[in-house]
Amino acid sequence: MTRARTAIIAGNWKMNFGPTEAKHFVKEILPEIGQVLYGSGSTQTLCILCPPTISLEAVRTVLDTLPASQQNYIELGAQNMYFEEKGAFTGEISPAMIHELCSAVILGHSERRMYFGETNEVVNKKAKAALQHGLRPIICIGENQEQHEAGQTEQVIREQVQNCLCNFPVERLQDIVVAYEPIWAIGSGKAATAEGAGNVAQAIRQLYRTMYNEEVANALHILYGGSVTSENINEFMAHPDIDGALVGGASIKADFVGIVRNVVV
Ligand code: PGA
Repeated sequence: MTRARTAIIAGNWKMNFGPTEAKHFVKEILPEIGQVLYGSGSTQTLCILCPPTISLEAVRTVLDTLPASQQNYIELGAQNMYFEEKGAFTGEISPAMIHELCSAVILGHSERRMYFGETNEVVNKKAKAALQHGLRPIICIGENQEQHEAGQTEQVIREQVQNCLCNFPVERLQDIVVAYEPIWAIGSGKAATAEGAGNVAQAIRQLYRTMYNEEVANALHILYGGSVTSENINEFMAHPDIDGALVGGASIKADFVGIVRNVVV
């Protein structure tokens, strides 16, 4: 299948693997991922690994052993950052600090919204700061179970897109990635249907078209996230508006290689 956009498979390791384990795991999966990505001569898929902040440097040192040509297709991402440049913000990490090691950053994950009170406005500030520092933001949105059952998905998504994705610098718009992650599907083993996720992805692209323009909307990468495995990835990838996946649980297992393989082949 010819894709309109590069496929992106991002692995959100969440709070798993300190530096030692992270290094061990990435050494284990990297040769296989490299073989899948380059064995087929395919450079249509980008893989982004997102370990905990403390393990970024350990993973970076392993990624740096790859030939330069391969480094363009296996990126390192953080799971969060703060929007301020520097100063008295104990425990926070700035965009420039993240940029020293990473090229991407996950923002507004539902766990950050749920446990750490992140709002759409904060996510918007972080995304703008990420873009200004040359980072690719992976901005997470999605409805919860109650909203899903009440048929409010489209309304929730519209509000999140309008508030998280507004007022971005026009010259950096092509770097934005949106991950549609219905909260009820995260870590539950109960993924959305490809049709349901595809319809939301289509609605996100349509909203983006009205907020910016056709060209920008066509360049937007939209990922699906929520109980993605090597078994169901192809169903999601078959939808023209879904460009890849944000993978949680399966990203810290060998199944991650299977997911990448199924996308590439
Ligand atoms: P999951 O998590 O794949 O374990 O459902 C996805 C995510 O939280 O990004």
